[in-house]
Amino acid sequence: MKNRVYVKDLKDNVGKEVIIAGWVNIRRDQGKMVFFDMRDMTGLVQCVSLPNHAEATEKAKEIRSEWVLKLTGLVNKRPDKNIKTDVLNGELELEVTNIEVLNKAEITPFQINENSIGVNEDLRMKYKYLDLRTERMQKNIRNRHKVVKFIRDYLDKENFTEIETPILSKSTAEGARDFIVPSRLDKGKFYALPQAPQQYKQLLMAAGMEKYFQMAKCMRDEDLRCDRQPEFTQLDMEMSFVDREDVMNLNESLLIEIVQKLYPEKEIQEIPFPRITYKDAMEKYGNDRPDLRKDKNNKNLLAFCWVIDFPFFEKANNDNNPQAEGEWTFTHNPFSAAQPQFHEDLLNKRNIPNILTNQYDIVLNGFEIGGGSIRNHEPEALLAVYDIMGVKKEEVEKTLFYMLDAFRSGTPPHGGIAWGFDRLMMLLENEPNIREVMVFPKNGEGKDLMMNSPSLVSEKQLKELGIKIGK
Ligand code: AMO
Repeated sequence: MKNRVYVKDLKDNVGKEVIIAGWVNIRRDQGKMVFFDMRDMTGLVQCVSLPNHAEATEKAKEIRSEWVLKLTGLVNKRPDKNIKTDVLNGELELEVTNIEVLNKAEITPFQINENSIGVNEDLRMKYKYLDLRTERMQKNIRNRHKVVKFIRDYLDKENFTEIETPILSKSTAEGARDFIVPSRLDKGKFYALPQAPQQYKQLLMAAGMEKYFQMAKCMRDEDLRCDRQPEFTQLDMEMSFVDREDVMNLNESLLIEIVQKLYPEKEIQEIPFPRITYKDAMEKYGNDRPDLRKDKNNKNLLAFCWVIDFPFFEKANNDNNPQAEGEWTFTHNPFSAAQPQFHEDLLNKRNIPNILTNQYDIVLNGFEIGGGSIRNHEPEALLAVYDIMGVKKEEVEKTLFYMLDAFRSGTPPHGGIAWGFDRLMMLLENEPNIREVMVFPKNGEGKDLMMNSPSLVSEKQLKELGIKIGK
């Protein structure tokens, strides 16, 4: 729109006639005058329609909340007694000279000019585009962008390359259940959506990229919780020629800078972040994501800690498939390396319950916001991990041949980490769940209530895929 001025910039235009565009936030009639607030992505301004602009005032009487207007007006200073010092444009008022209605709006199912946190969440989800208009949601989504941008700039300076990895991937046992996608060209076969770009990023290390990161979409078919969605975002990274300290130090510095530069009102309880072993965490706190805050009522207190020295293997139970109950399975990641002092034990498959992995988790205020490890980069070590879990060499050679081939072709030592980015944003924005920092989340049953998905597909689509739905 030509000559449009953002609401936040009106203060630089006092005494001038300007054009703004946006939504009617609220309207109040006072006899011959009409007052209303206009809202654009940068904020609010009070507008007043006076009888001397008769045509504009007639239109102003028609407008309703959430109508979209192009508005011309004079930027006036408010009389002293009406000045509000603590809000944007509290010292200004726009005297309306012309109104062009760009679109009308039906009555909204909930108030847009109020915090929607108390509104029925199914309703908010159904009309997510309206929910996202509210001030709090706008703030959350825009701050999310700021943090992403900060991360990108920071890692770029650290010589990282942002690389996108495929979404149509392969089903491999990574811990959770896969979402699978049928192939039309190769009937009866399936892609899987990535639970994480774990193997791709390791293959990028084999490819000589050395320092990779990605704001990566990850899909896991698991039960939902306040900090779990079937589709979520990781800040995923991997580095070559690093040890555990390198990865932990880089990530700690990045987290500290994000807080100090973008959330200066927040206080980090302890720097450097305390480190606690898995064993101590379990003994002292009964879980491996302790909430170390000294004052849990202080919403600006951030207690980060690292949890380290996890056991590599545990006996499988019903939830930690794919290994059969009672067999050894990995606690975190089959691609992790053992800590150096246990490397020989791993290769010789002895002392199994005591082998510690190089895994490190980053915890914030009782939430696991990330985890990673130094990996095995030699084929024998990866084969040994699977052997301990009861998967024979021939089987691994068949399913993970590309990883083994890569490891046999000059893959450097490497390691990495992935942050649960939604969880970090939830905590930085003081929100009770990750849905509040996502644009179109799913509900507790994994449904998108706005688009009504998952949904049926046509007979034709199923036929093309060679799929029959069972009764
Ligand atoms: P992990 O499985 O621990 O590690 O995932 C990393 C982080 O992602 C977040 N997270 C989730 N967030 C929202 N919804 C979910 N369903 C969900 N599941 C996990 C958590 C978790 O700490 N490839 C490895 C990382 C690595 O080793 O580099 C991985 O994915 O905050």
